[in-house]
Amino acid sequence: MRLTVVGATGGIGRHLYAQAVAAGHHVTAVVRDPRRLPDPAGPVSTVDLTDADPPALARAVEGADAVLSGLGARSAHETGIALRGTRSIVDAMTATGVRRIIVVSAASVGTVPSPGRPDPPRHNAGDGPVMRHVAARAAKALFRRYYADLALMEDLLRERDLDWTVSRPPRLLDRPLTGRYRTVEECNVRGGMFIGRADVAHHMLSTVERPETFRRVYGIAYDGTRASLRALLGRRREPRS
Ligand SMILES: NC(=O)c1ccc[n+]([C@@H]2O[C@H](COP(=O)([O-])OP(=O)(O)OC[C@H]3O[C@@H](n4cnc5c(N)ncnc54)[C@H](OP(=O)(O)O)[C@@H]3O)[C@@H](O)[C@H]2O)c1
Repeated sequence: MRLTVVGATGGIGRHLYAQAVAAGHHVTAVVRDPRRLPDPAGPVSTVDLTDADPPALARAVEGADAVLSGLGARSAHETGIALRGTRSIVDAMTATGVRRIIVVSAASVGTVPSPGRPDPPRHNAGDGPVMRHVAARAAKALFRRYYADLALMEDLLRERDLDWTVSRPPRLLDRPLTGRYRTVEECNVRGGMFIGRADVAHHMLSTVERPETFRRVYGIAYDGTRASLRALLGRRREPRS
């Protein structure tokens, strides 16, 4: 397949890129600093999505069977980039006739009100009492601006006539790929507090050609509290880029 990976130097994005290349796909990387992708296995487009250059983005997505995006704000002052950058990406896709996009959001976003979802459920049905009353509340207080940005990004996708899939992970860890995770449609994974970035990338890539995942949102996490805690406390960590 021909794939375009946006944010190929990011935490999830670099796994998307490496796994897609290892699977033998023709992969175009979209990055803002190509020096951070020293040995690219295919074309690299340099695009800062704060102020994207539409022709450059159109060239990066044209002919792709799918776009996989690990885009997200690196810091609170960059929030807004998930919406703005994804809008530029989907505009480029529409201009070039590309329909498939898979993006990263966050577990807490399911309960965040937005213009497109003004009355979301107060609690995520997958969250147990600790997640509901402690962890989700704390995360929402700390990451309010990130979640608002991601909720608007999800709204944007729902408005567009595209084959999108949204991955909503809980707290991300840098752990080796396990392939042992659960996903739940439209809901968080019960007891799933953590997930490795490599596994999120693995699931995103696994959805590319599955029409049943089109226009769907997936919670993803290690399977249950024990698996989550084992991963959290595990010694095999991967360096962050
Ligand atoms: N951290 C968590 O525990 C957590 C939990 C749930 C969901 N999430 C969501 O998951 C997303 C992905 O996680 P991650 O760990 O992979 O994030 P990350 O390492 O911060 O990666 C974000 C990517 O977005 C790119 N980016 C940001 N602003 C850009 C711009 N103006 N133009 C072009 N590219 C831009 C970054 O490019 P550079 O490489 O050039 O910086 C990077 O590739 C997060 O951003 C967040 O929205 C995070």
